[in-house]
Amino acid sequence: MTLSNDSLSQQLNISLDRVNRDLERIITYDQDLSSRSVVATSILDLIRAGGKRLRPLMVIVGSRFGESPENRDVYKLAAVCEFIHAASLIHDDILDEADTRRGQPALHRKVGTRTAVYVGNYITCRVIELLTEQDTELENYIQDLTSVTTTQLCLGEYQQMEQRYNFNITLEQYWEKTRNKTALLMAASLQAGARAGMADPKVAEALYQFGDQLGMAFQVRDDVLDYMQTADTLGKPAGADLRNGQVTLPAMIAMEDPFVREQLMQLTEDSPSEAFDEAVGLIRDCGALAKALDMSHEFMQKAWNISEELSHYCAHRDLQTLWRYFEERTY
Ligand code: FPP
Ligand code: MG
Repeated sequence: MTLSNDSLSQQLNISLDRVNRDLERIITYDQDLSSRSVVATSILDLIRAGGKRLRPLMVIVGSRFGESPENRDVYKLAAVCEFIHAASLIHDDILDEADTRRGQPALHRKVGTRTAVYVGNYITCRVIELLTEQDTELENYIQDLTSVTTTQLCLGEYQQMEQRYNFNITLEQYWEKTRNKTALLMAASLQAGARAGMADPKVAEALYQFGDQLGMAFQVRDDVLDYMQTADTLGKPAGADLRNGQVTLPAMIAMEDPFVREQLMQLTEDSPSEAFDEAVGLIRDCGALAKALDMSHEFMQKAWNISEELSHYCAHRDLQTLWRYFEERTY
């Protein structure tokens, strides 16, 4: 059985309506934004387009390991983590020249690149403001965590841009970029939720590690998915990452074969689309996708082990529900 996202929140007994309401309220109550402004309508459209809300769910689950689960700060933090994610996707779609997001035209296709950059920046700045509303020691800690994570997100995306068409990218560089652009925000969501819910800092740290491993597995699978699905199911052609100069784990593994390596090394931004079709075919047919999925399973296994170490907390069941949702995202 595959869990839909609705049933994920249901299984976790978390009201996505409340999360969504909080997200909308932050924008509709924003006194600096006229409700008809492009910025406000763009953000509201984005929220209403849905999304998995995985990071808010992680914040809330993290808080359940503490003495004060699901308090108001926790929900605020859930919104913060979703907004950081949303802003990063707006910028990511501009950089990737993506046409669609969540089944709808990407924001920059609707409002133009300049406005979309501004919307992304606006969200990021509002998040900082939301985080600085209180000034307790805990808030300082969470601010640090969130700002470091946002910086790493930007760094990850920059590393990705810098490494376009770098067919000599090392595994170490790939892991670093993957951790920065995806895993750290998931890790921080769980940890910050735990801290805001007054959990033991050691438990919060274990949750950070759990989120990190889950995030690494998630991004590796996303990179594999990019090769596996067709334009119809994915909304973009198979191998879109490679066509965009991104050398991800499947291509890196495929290049262990000298013939594939030689073919891929010839690709440049100016190569015809047939050359990319051929390269994508080679990567799909050489067993690299299965090997990449094996590596993602290793991350999943480590995450599971962490959840077992927390088995004396009732909330470890929620952690394992989250884990199963990620695990079922198999192809
Ligand atoms: C999706 O990657 C992109 C990310 C996970 C991070 C993007 C980060 C930035 C653009 C830095 C800016 C950040 C802020 C907070 C303003 P993907 O292209 O592999 O996945 P996709 O298929 O979902 O597009
Ligand atoms: Mg992208």
